[in-house]
Amino acid sequence: MADKVKITYKDQEFEYPIVEGTMGDVSVDISKLRGESGLITLDPGYKNTGSCESKITFLDGEKGKLMYRGYPIEQLAEKSSFIEVMYLLLEGELPTARQLERWEKTIKSYTYVNDRVRKILNAFPSNAHPMGVLATLTSSLTAFNPKAVDPNKEEDMYHAAARLISKMDILAAWTYRKSNELELNEPDSNLSYIENFYQMMFKNNDKFELNQTIISALDKLLILHADHEQNCSASAVRLVGSSHAGLFASISAGISALWGPLHGGANQAVIEMLERIQSDGGGLQKWVDKAKNKDDEFRLMGFGHRVYKNMDPRAKIIKKAADDVLGQLGVEDEILDLARDLEAIALKDEYFIERKLYPNVDFYSGIIYRALGIPNEMFTVMFALGRLPGWISQWKEMRQTFQPIGRPRQVYTGAQTRNYVPIDER
Ligand code: SDX
Repeated sequence: MADKVKITYKDQEFEYPIVEGTMGDVSVDISKLRGESGLITLDPGYKNTGSCESKITFLDGEKGKLMYRGYPIEQLAEKSSFIEVMYLLLEGELPTARQLERWEKTIKSYTYVNDRVRKILNAFPSNAHPMGVLATLTSSLTAFNPKAVDPNKEEDMYHAAARLISKMDILAAWTYRKSNELELNEPDSNLSYIENFYQMMFKNNDKFELNQTIISALDKLLILHADHEQNCSASAVRLVGSSHAGLFASISAGISALWGPLHGGANQAVIEMLERIQSDGGGLQKWVDKAKNKDDEFRLMGFGHRVYKNMDPRAKIIKKAADDVLGQLGVEDEILDLARDLEAIALKDEYFIERKLYPNVDFYSGIIYRALGIPNEMFTVMFALGRLPGWISQWKEMRQTFQPIGRPRQVYTGAQTRNYVPIDER
């Protein structure tokens, strides 16, 4: 018989079923709690609250494990490709050769971006943060693709995903070109998804050449960022989409949520922190002590995680890749040594050990992006490009399982009932 949880309240006893996931994760289903007991739960930041059942990604925070559709991230990072991982997340299975060919072709068929989008892009000042530009341009795509996606028509959903993925590649590169006042490059459908992105970012003349070390490093980084179950931005995409707002509008909300330095914006904040430490020259212990000091707002960016209480498996892979990529490119970067030393000191420090604070996905990723010539303020755009197939998969699953509109409750602690006072009596 399935386990239950008993709650006793005001001499009444209530029972709620245990729901067990396929990897042994356990929860209590309280969907009837308020109707039966009048109680709601209070859980700021949803630290103990599951918002949905999902088949897309599994994390084991204690063991530091991550799987997309059952495949361990280590195997996908080593053996798969970003274009294939997109398909896996969206369709639930690894594609056959024919399915992969059709998927790639469909993405390439959607590289046209309406000229008015360029006008919107040009309206931004060049110092506008690329994440704000990208969120706006993504939302603007609704104006040029007004037909709402029917998530329950597979073909409709397939093409909507391909369309958005294709355009995001272009918009991401254009935000970089715009912020550097460079001419916009056109997409080249003879190239792979990542080659096309890279040439659109950096091609300034016909002598431009693709470097396959860079392309494969980007491919691995985008795989590692592709999904991460119900993180802040995926939850934003699900919540916005649960009102049946369109796919582009929901993804635009996800981009805005990812921008925050506590979330995807951390990859930019890590490098800024390391550069600050480097120029300070005051040694690392001083900064580790600052991070531990409750009266100091400084935090060790790229450290800690809501779910991982062990090393983020992605950070392990990226840390090794940073060595490989910088070595292959012949790039020396003191910041990498600084990051390693900082990690070593923090991991021996009681404060970090006690709180199970380890490097997360953002701690080393910026070091590779720097080596690939990508500027700091574009790091979170790279995160968004990687996370896009995950966001779309989450949106698709939420709509295809007919999730109700998300509408949390609250505990009200404001003024009790009182009567209006005319202004001349106040
Ligand atoms: C991402 O959710 C995901 O899956 C996200 C992500 C994804 O792929 O989508 O993995 C991507 O967002 C990774 C996280 C990137 N953010 C950062 O690196 C910012 C720095 N980290 C912290 O701000 C923090 O660790 C969070 C935001 C990541 C998690 O915060 P929580 O879960 O709310 O934990 P908390 O803030 O309550 O911290 C618990 C304790 C506190 O100390 P005490 O009150 O118990 O004394 O740990 C301390 C915190 O002060 N702490 C840190 C710290 N992180 C937590 N102290 C110093 N430096 C840090 N980085």
